[in-house]
Amino acid sequence: MPVYYLMLGAPGAGKGTQAKRLSDKIKLAHISSGDIFRDHLKRDTELGKLARGFMSRGELVPDDITIAMIRERLLQSDCADGAVLDGFPRTPAQAKHLETLIAELNGRVAKAIYIRVAKETLIKRLSGRWMCRLHGHVYHDIHNPPKTPGVCDIDGSELYQRDDDKAETVAHRINVYLEQTAPLIDYYRDRNYLIEINGEQSIDAVSSDLLAKLKQG
Ligand code: AP5
Ligand code: MG
Repeated sequence: MPVYYLMLGAPGAGKGTQAKRLSDKIKLAHISSGDIFRDHLKRDTELGKLARGFMSRGELVPDDITIAMIRERLLQSDCADGAVLDGFPRTPAQAKHLETLIAELNGRVAKAIYIRVAKETLIKRLSGRWMCRLHGHVYHDIHNPPKTPGVCDIDGSELYQRDDDKAETVAHRINVYLEQTAPLIDYYRDRNYLIEINGEQSIDAVSSDLLAKLKQG
């Protein structure tokens, strides 16, 4: 039966960082909706053209577009055993569609992992973030620097700063998160899926807390 882990948390909370570590550990695909959109932007596809304006303004891409994209991705063979979903669902409508899709696939949600971080920390993290062009591997100037500045340790590609990590856009992304995505925390808590992690610790401490809480069930 396919199993799905959902990463919840504000922009900069560490969803991508922890989703990558978790997916390596439990050998499930890491599916980041933001990374898929950024790949479409880079290739200038029709989907990329649709998403570009929303992303650069720090707004959510409309549900119908996002849901169709994730549905297609979860039907691919590398997701046959499930996935770690990073950045999806992000609205109540997306959560409902995901439930339907998982039922169609005869799968189940294992846990929704909420990484809790204060607003001031989010802003510091995003202003120091660097990502690799090839696969979106994530670094930070202070907390997780690459061995060679500007170069990805894993695939050697160039590191860049995201357009939507500018201070004004970050502030808007955080508001969008609070209005549209934060209600999902209670949604999954009410269904007994939620585990909550203190995201203010070091990257390693967050990972070990997360694994320990998953083991507890
Ligand atoms: P997306 O790419 O998902 O961005 P986001 O949710 O804003 O989250 P981030 O990727 O910015 O942060 P993160 O939590 O992954 O943190 P990270 O691990 O990188 O979405 C981008 C856009 O795409 C959206 O605005 C929207 O337009 C669109 N989109 C995507 N999904 C959508 C959906 N479902 N519906 C509609 N639209 C959608 O860490 C951040 C930094 O902190 C890094 O530098 C990292 O090294 C560092 N760090 C991480 N953990 C720690 C730690 N514990 N201590 C110190 N530093 C840390
Ligand atoms: Mg991310």
